[in-house]
Amino acid sequence: MERTVGTDIRRPEGPDKVSGRAVFVADLATPGAWFGGTVRSDVPRGELLGVDLDPAFDWDRVRLAGPAEVPGANVVAMINEDMPVLAEREVRHVGQPLLLVAAPDAETLGAALAAARPRIAPLPAVLDMEDAPDVLHEILIEKGDAPSALARAARIIEGTYRTDTQEQMYIEPQGVIAWPPDASGCTVVRGSMQCPFYVHKSLVTMLGTRADAVRVIQVETGGGFGGKEDYPSVLACHAVLLARAAGVPVRMIYDRHEDLAVTPKRHPSRVRHRTSVADDGTLLAMDIDVLLDGGAYTTLSPVVLSRACIHAAGAYRCDHVRIRGRVVRTDHVPYGAFRGFGAPQVCFAVERQMDRIAGALALHPAELRRKNMLRVGDTTATGQRLETSVGSVEVMERVLARSRFDRHAWRSAGVAREPHDSQGARKRTGVGFSFFFHGAGFTGSGEELLKARVRVELDQGGRAVVETASTEFGQGTIAMFTALAADALGAAPEDIRIAAADTSRVPNSGPTVASRTCMVVGGCVMKACAELRARMSAASGDESGPFADRARAFLAGGGDGLAEVVYASPPGLVWDEEHYRGDAYPAYGWAADVAEVEVDLDTFEVRVTRFLSTVDVGKAIQPQLVEGQIEGGSLQAIGFAHLEVVTTEGGRFLQDRMATCIIPGTLDTPPIEVELVEVPFPHGPAGAKGVGELPMDGGAPAVASAIEDALGIHVDHIPATPERLLDAWLRAHPEEAL
Ligand code: MOS
Repeated sequence: MERTVGTDIRRPEGPDKVSGRAVFVADLATPGAWFGGTVRSDVPRGELLGVDLDPAFDWDRVRLAGPAEVPGANVVAMINEDMPVLAEREVRHVGQPLLLVAAPDAETLGAALAAARPRIAPLPAVLDMEDAPDVLHEILIEKGDAPSALARAARIIEGTYRTDTQEQMYIEPQGVIAWPPDASGCTVVRGSMQCPFYVHKSLVTMLGTRADAVRVIQVETGGGFGGKEDYPSVLACHAVLLARAAGVPVRMIYDRHEDLAVTPKRHPSRVRHRTSVADDGTLLAMDIDVLLDGGAYTTLSPVVLSRACIHAAGAYRCDHVRIRGRVVRTDHVPYGAFRGFGAPQVCFAVERQMDRIAGALALHPAELRRKNMLRVGDTTATGQRLETSVGSVEVMERVLARSRFDRHAWRSAGVAREPHDSQGARKRTGVGFSFFFHGAGFTGSGEELLKARVRVELDQGGRAVVETASTEFGQGTIAMFTALAADALGAAPEDIRIAAADTSRVPNSGPTVASRTCMVVGGCVMKACAELRARMSAASGDESGPFADRARAFLAGGGDGLAEVVYASPPGLVWDEEHYRGDAYPAYGWAADVAEVEVDLDTFEVRVTRFLSTVDVGKAIQPQLVEGQIEGGSLQAIGFAHLEVVTTEGGRFLQDRMATCIIPGTLDTPPIEVELVEVPFPHGPAGAKGVGELPMDGGAPAVASAIEDALGIHVDHIPATPERLLDAWLRAHPEEAL
């Protein structure tokens, strides 16, 4: 049997997707279904006095659901239980759901929504995270004694870095369909989502019912990027309330405008660095302050802050580190998960700080990184000793060999440049660099607490059915699991079926988040398959012939065709949650990026002309999919760096249409040259770690570094829009002001 690990197989769900046969939530034929909609707050903060229903509309044509219709707790249960399903009195953000409406058709729904007018007494809103009084969560990491080391320091380099929010812009907007309770009292929801068991938990809490009275089924999902980690719980709660009120199935499928206006986006950040460095560039002490805007409710902010803090000192060795992190409550639409989960924000800050240090010491940025990079035997900011699968040196040296960035005379801000290029064209070019790591899997004891479960079962046709709650939403879960299972069973991809993520049928392997699906769940899949294979060969001793024949014979002979595996962390991991010390992650992915840019000195538009990324994922189970993850993540990072503008005014997102909420298109996409390095992680399946989030981390600082090289402007706030660059340019060149 040909190995399926490390060889690209055909994506099992691919033909249906490219031919249009795949059934997404909006395609689900649901006879008799009504349409659900939401009456929302139009102010960021206030007291809800009521919702006026215009008597000119015939309200008998629709069904309503308000907070009084919530059978259990009026909360969307996530990490905390502070976000109401529907506001009762207190209004905390623009777009907050107040009242739900179901109608037999979209036109009636539109008329009803237009005839419902919330009456809200506005209150002063907190919209600036810098003076937000409520802290949702805070974290302190201390290694050595950074305050004393900084007090003794001969040289301290300071920097403040900001990142704005970013929209996930999955192709398919959020959507679910809910059915009224069936004859057995079970509530069923189908929808577009990453985490069926998160939705399940929220519904059980809101309904105040038993776990087996709720069934959540993921249908084909058109992208998520973290954006379908928490919000589907909100939408499912709403759809379920309406289905109960209307007594028929209710479709709640957002259009793009509603999706952009009310669903969570990346946390805006402000990160301050104070760094003590020796003359030769050795990092002596780092003091880092991380501030995130959490928006109106907790959602997933504590875990975003956690990942942000653990990655805040970058992939560097330093004996004295203090990282203080806070996520604060504002009256913005709640911010939430987005690929990278806090790491892209802090990676931007620390990589820009490294360039600032390089400039101050007149060291080459590559040299400064080489000197300080984490290597085998070093300890991270949480004191984790890196012992295995550390691809740091390989990724750095290989990307430098390909790009020759270490021979490029990188110019920091303050180094003089020629006014224009020799042709007189008002264009400048620059090259930039970043080096970074990303922890795979849940942080600390997360995996131990969750205990992911996976089942593999031989069916009557002799196929192996892989049962997990892990979802496919474009990234390749199905192909990756298929390749792992086929390899471990000695079977062909056709012998494997990946079961739908249906909470009533599959064990809870956890949410599809945090770069954990391959390393953690995939590892369990392989183990379960290996166990079945051992049973089969113990029974017959013969591994020749088609797998399906052997599997049927095994079952006919009374063999046990069901294997269940519970995840076990690698031995020896120790994590102290209270002090944030120890082994934060079982393994890290490593990467280094080089970006080349061209900047127009008249328009200050940035064009990224070439992008190189060298990445250590341990083992690429499906190389083409891994490269796709790196290309896509890098492009999202390039957009984050210079062209994705999402701003708020009075707590409202100004870019609430696809026409104004810009993401990179084909013409904004440079050639992206990916190189994979494989430094296997012994505890991962076939040596694999995670790749989902890592490529989102380093692109923005690499592009910012290239802009600094081109213009002599230290980009410390992204997106680096033409307006921001022009502003900085005119501050540096007052003679050019009109
Ligand atoms: Mo999430 S940002 O999908 O871990």
